[in-house]
Parts: sequence; structure tokens; C-alpha cells
Amino acid sequence: MYKIAVLPGDGIGPEITVQTVRVLEAVGRRFGHEFKFTEGLIGGAAYDAVGHPLPPETLDLCHNSDAILLGAVGGPKWDNLPSHLRPEAGALLPLRKELGLYANLRPAKVFPALVNASTLKPEVVAGLDILVVRELTGGLYFGKKYREPLDGGGIRVVDTLEYTTPEIERIARLAFQMARKRRKKVTSVDKANVLESSRYWREVVSAIGTEYPDVELDHYYVDNCAMQLVKNPRQFDVLVTENMFGDILSDQASMLSGSLGMLASASIGGNIGLYEPSHGSAPKYTGMQRANPIATILSGAMLLRFSLNLEEEADCIERAITRVLDLGYRTADLMEEGKELVNTIQMGDRIIEQIESGV
Ligand code: IPM
Ligand code: MG
Repeated sequence: MYKIAVLPGDGIGPEITVQTVRVLEAVGRRFGHEFKFTEGLIGGAAYDAVGHPLPPETLDLCHNSDAILLGAVGGPKWDNLPSHLRPEAGALLPLRKELGLYANLRPAKVFPALVNASTLKPEVVAGLDILVVRELTGGLYFGKKYREPLDGGGIRVVDTLEYTTPEIERIARLAFQMARKRRKKVTSVDKANVLESSRYWREVVSAIGTEYPDVELDHYYVDNCAMQLVKNPRQFDVLVTENMFGDILSDQASMLSGSLGMLASASIGGNIGLYEPSHGSAPKYTGMQRANPIATILSGAMLLRFSLNLEEEADCIERAITRVLDLGYRTADLMEEGKELVNTIQMGDRIIEQIESGV
């Protein structure tokens, strides 16, 4: 029996996680696995219920699970709380840190049926398959930050960007290992023409690269990489980069696949993996059953693959999604003329039907 912590969170989080749990249950029935799902509070929902966005019970639940499925956190209602109580800075970032999840894998892949869904021309994105490997527990998001008053009025505001040698080495190794299972190419992204941290990042990634002579390595400045991602995205296989660059570039990469609603993610590196869509909680769509659950369901597939070693089961979910898209079902974010519009629950239903029919 596998123990899975389910943290629905805020906004559309509960709607998309419930569909993912249903899909995983269908996989369990088909392949003969038992999953025990236990829900925990996180984010604004946790703050409202118990006064803290990351309650100790939730951390305990995570530590006692085989894997964690997370919806999304945050919303305007909690934006003005002090930073340690905000869903993002007070729950999501500390949870990643506490669990040692230093690597965030975000695959941007174009499903054949969605080749026209991207805002980019189909000939630019057809067949695209990029893996963004984002460093997740260092950099600007975790560096010292403060405000200090200035004598003449106003303040000085400071964020700091720090990395240590081992932090860069481990994420670089992981990127090379991932590339070995793919097209054997790593592109490291930095701003080495300006930032000292980037100059060192490049040195360390290059040194680790010599341990992987079979993997091609190149280096791009982040501004150039952003441009290349829309100009010629298929040149990329694995992109490895620091936390903030990865946050930004992964959102950008997701649009190549048609919608942010398609971008799954796995946060790994510690003992327990965390799986969540790369998109946010989309507060304005809360409760409307309008959201695309596919990013979360694909994150569920990554959970099976990376945390439970259930490769065949993960493939089955991916095939089911491919098939449902081929059949023309689309949530609102992906809707095109001539396709059939479905809501969040119906998208879950369609995917489950495929799993049950033996796709
Ligand atoms: C993401 C999100 C988070 C991040 C926010 C909500 C803190 O944008 O997972 O990409 O920046 O990591
Ligand atoms: Mg982000």
C-alpha cells in the first residue's frame, strides 16, 4: 500500500487534485495497487482553518507519506498577510526546503493534438520536448531579505542571491542524469556576463559536465535563452538553471505546449517527492470547474514514476491523456473551434474512461 498525502490548497487546487486522486484510483484498480490518500491543510485554506499556512500536522503527514500531491496555494485574500503567513512564502517555499526538494523538474512537451493550441506557429513547436530542471531551494527566493530605513527618508530594500558549491553540483548532476535518459544535451542558463553567482554556476556546471562526456553541454545567458525559447525551442533538451530563472523560463516554456494548464512538475531530491502543477491557484476560477486538471494529473504520473517506481502505470496515464486530446476533448484554456468543450470533472471522467478501457 502506498501512502499519498494530498494537499489541495487554495483556488482551483481542490478541483484539480480531486480529479487526480480519481485518476490514480483508476490506475490502482487497473494495476492492482492500493493507494491510501490522506488530506492535509496548506496555504490560505490552512491559515483560515488553523492560523498558519503550513501547520505542523501537515508537515507530519508529509514526513509519513510515500509522496505528496499538491494543488496550488495563494490568492488575493492572503496577499497582505506578513510574509511568514502568506501561502507562498509561509508554506510552499518552507515545505520545499524542509523536505530537501532541491530539484524541480518541469517537462514542456507538445501533445500532437495540441500543436495548434500554442500561440506559436505549429511548425515551431511540433514535437517539442523540453525538460526544465529548476534549482528549487536556493537563490533569491531563499536569500536574506530585508528593508532598512534611509536617513533622508525612504528605505533600502535587499534580496540576496547565494549558492554554495554543493548546491550547484547536485542540481547539475541531476540534470546530466536526466539528459542521459533523453537526447543527451544539457543547456545551463545563467547571467554570467553580469552576476558573480552566475559566473561560478557556469564554472561548476562545466566541471560536473566533464563527468558526463557523453552529454553535450552548452551555456546560454538567460535573456538569450528566453528569446531562443520562442524562436527555436526545439534546440533544447534539458535546461538547468537557478531558482528564479527556472521559475520564469518554465512558465514561458509551458506556453509552447499550449497552456500553463499542461505543465506538470516534480520536486525531488529529498526522501519524499512533491508533485504539483506549475501553475498557480487561479483564484478567479475557484469553484467553477473550469480549470484544466491535466497539469496536476500529469504530476500524478510523475509521482508514480519518480516516487513509487511505477513506470508502466505512469505511461498509462500519459497515454490516456494523449488519447483524450486526440479525441478532441478540451478544457476552456485549450479550446479551439471544432473541439468539444469539457469542464474539470468531465476531463477527469474522460481520462478515467481511457484508463479503464485499457489504453
Ligand atoms: C511556482 C510558483 C511558486 C514559485 C510561487 C507560488 C512561490 O510560481 O511553483 O513556479 O515561484 O516557486
Ligand atoms: Mg512559477
